[in-house]
Amino acid sequence: MDKRSFLKSLGGLLALSVTPMHLLSKKSEEFFSFFSEQKFTNDIWKDVRQDYELSTDFINLESGFYCMLPKPILENYLENIRKVNFLHTYYKRKIMADDKVKIIKKLSEFVGCSPEEVIVTRNTTESIDTVISGIDWQKEDEIIYAAQEYPAMIAMIQQVARRYGVKPVEIQIPFNPQSDEEILKLYQTKITKKTRLILVSHIINITGHVLPVKKICEMAHQRNVEVIVDGAHAIGHIDFQISDLGCDYYASSLHKWLSVPLGAGLLYVRKEHIPKIWPLLADNEYPKEDIRKLNHTGTQPFAVQLTIPFAIDYLNKIGLKNKEQRLKTLKFHWYKKLWALQHPNLIYNSPISEERSCGIGTIGVKNIAPTELADILFKEYKIWTVGIDFAGVNGVRVTPNIYNTLEEMEALQTAILRIANSRR
Ligand SMILES: Cc1ncc(COP(=O)(O)O)c(C=O)c1O
Repeated sequence: MDKRSFLKSLGGLLALSVTPMHLLSKKSEEFFSFFSEQKFTNDIWKDVRQDYELSTDFINLESGFYCMLPKPILENYLENIRKVNFLHTYYKRKIMADDKVKIIKKLSEFVGCSPEEVIVTRNTTESIDTVISGIDWQKEDEIIYAAQEYPAMIAMIQQVARRYGVKPVEIQIPFNPQSDEEILKLYQTKITKKTRLILVSHIINITGHVLPVKKICEMAHQRNVEVIVDGAHAIGHIDFQISDLGCDYYASSLHKWLSVPLGAGLLYVRKEHIPKIWPLLADNEYPKEDIRKLNHTGTQPFAVQLTIPFAIDYLNKIGLKNKEQRLKTLKFHWYKKLWALQHPNLIYNSPISEERSCGIGTIGVKNIAPTELADILFKEYKIWTVGIDFAGVNGVRVTPNIYNTLEEMEALQTAILRIANSRR
């Protein structure tokens, strides 16, 4: 297909996506029963797609930053904004506390922990910084982390290094390890008597590599080392419960894969650790054993948090397992064939094995800078991704969502292959 006909067919494809608003007009009960009656075939994903108002100008494969709200969640959010505005300070003074209890109950059930061990924060950054900055560090304590961790978290580790004399210990995670043991060994060999904390991503955001967090926690606990998990990309993306992992702390951003409006995250702290963590924002309201001491935020956009229960209901109706499987299907649909080619011009940054994969995949083309590759994809093929050049990862990160189609993933695959072939 030449570029012209490619773009033409793309235009046709995208025109199909213009949303007829039909699901939005349904009341939420009808909307949810619509889902429960359906089987999750390729057809149902076409219906799910109609829940999103998508641009007809480009294929959006950049859900890794934050996720677009489907129209039912957006409507619920707008209702919540109106409610908070209408009831004004009466809402905050008389109603919010009860709503908060309900939100925490629902969230804790969804993520699998006790309501006394979780708070709603603004995002993963706030959650992780609360823990790392809140520990009573001793000089020469050590923190192990991978070079592929999110830069803001590495910055906080470096800050406590400067402030308290903590020693940062960095490891490199291989793109395609042969076994979990290979990864465990990387952490294990760095543990010393001074090691106090391991920071580990549940999903490495720049490669989509799902790490064996449970095994890392077991190994670390045998050596009296605590583990904080950066789950920014895991909640609402892969099917698991925090209680399954055995971690000490877990952080996530709910505005990513749970599709909560921007500005919501969570922090889980295992009960026994709560007393020793200092709040990021000082609090005199709660005793030191109460996790709410870590949640003194000042006045907030309450409507964001109020939308969490609806976002959970929305996802539960689709089913987290179904969503995880669909996102993996989308990844493998474009990545597997490119992988099989082992093209000399391609740089494969993401794992190929089923158990280490999720919806995220990253691929580069030799001698093209990642930002340039992203620009080519956008300008010439109308595909929106992001270039990543960090910690040995070189390429565009592709993060489809449940509204993306198999055809769109094929369009990406074709585009990448053409660009790679043009560089021979
Ligand atoms: C692994 C990881 N951790 C943390 C963050 C920070 O998330 P937020 O900006 O919502 O705090 C991100 C953002 O993409 C991420 O990918």
